[in-house]
Amino acid sequence: MSLIGVARTARENAHAPYSGFKVGAAIRSSDGGIYSGCNVENVAYPEGTCAEAGAIAAMVCDGSRKIAEIVVVADGPSPVPPCGGCRQKIAEFAGPETPVILASLDGAITRTTLGALLPGSFGSDHMERAET
Ligand code: THU
Repeated sequence: MSLIGVARTARENAHAPYSGFKVGAAIRSSDGGIYSGCNVENVAYPEGTCAEAGAIAAMVCDGSRKIAEIVVVADGPSPVPPCGGCRQKIAEFAGPETPVILASLDGAITRTTLGALLPGSFGSDHMERAET
């Protein structure tokens, strides 16, 4: 199955009774692993988690630390990009050139990169003078 197909399948399992907006994500890691996630909402609204966060957690839990490619699938009028928080979460395990593929259910696809989505991102190099 394609990585987009994996994200579409994950999306079907989303728990989104409050927004009604189901999202699926899939990651191919640098060592070839495939990981998926869906959004999991909560009646205490801020406690919900995004699809990308679920896929990242699955990757990390399996021992992988590098995203080679990530796909986000949702049913929007145009391909849905990761929210701001998810861009930072992706940046923890990806570089500016890492492909981010956005797909809508009707087949529209946008190919971009993390660097295009999160220019000037905060990274560990900014903490060089931190007092430890
Ligand atoms: N959502 C994601 O899962 N990923 C994103 O990058 C955008 C937003 C979810 C969160 C919430 O469950 C629903 O979409 C509406 O915001």
